[in-house]
Amino acid sequence: MKILVINGPNLNMLGIREPDHYGKETYADLCNKIQSYCQGKNLEVTIYQSNHEGDLVDEIQKAYGNIDGIVINPGAYTHTSIAILDAVKSVNIPTVEVHISRVEEREDFRQISYVRLACEKTITGHGTDGYLEAIDYLAKGK
Ligand code: DQA
Repeated sequence: MKILVINGPNLNMLGIREPDHYGKETYADLCNKIQSYCQGKNLEVTIYQSNHEGDLVDEIQKAYGNIDGIVINPGAYTHTSIAILDAVKSVNIPTVEVHISRVEEREDFRQISYVRLACEKTITGHGTDGYLEAIDYLAKGK
């Protein structure tokens, strides 16, 4: 099974940005954690991060026909991007939305998630373990 993990803007700043919300693990720590988890489960994983909306759309489109499940944390684009929603809808690949922080307890502007409309599941507030939970969900095929 092939899994694509996509991270949006500022997630490359993990470990530096707002540790009260996002913890102390760096982006490299997150990538290592995902890679070793997938290795242990015999899952093929590609990890992608971009600060640019169109690049995220391109990566989602590239997944069509090549990827069995997507884990996506679109960062702030969660709350603004219909383009990312449409891209996920276009490829018709089972997708799980992940947020490191408990977005539902934060500002009003974080209460809208466009991408959620195309996702089978949403995981919030479990820190970086949320990515592993999303991978487990996709690997179980439900
Ligand atoms: C985030 C939550 C978003 O509101 C924020 O813009 C992020 C990270 C999270 O992982 O908790 O960049 O997606």
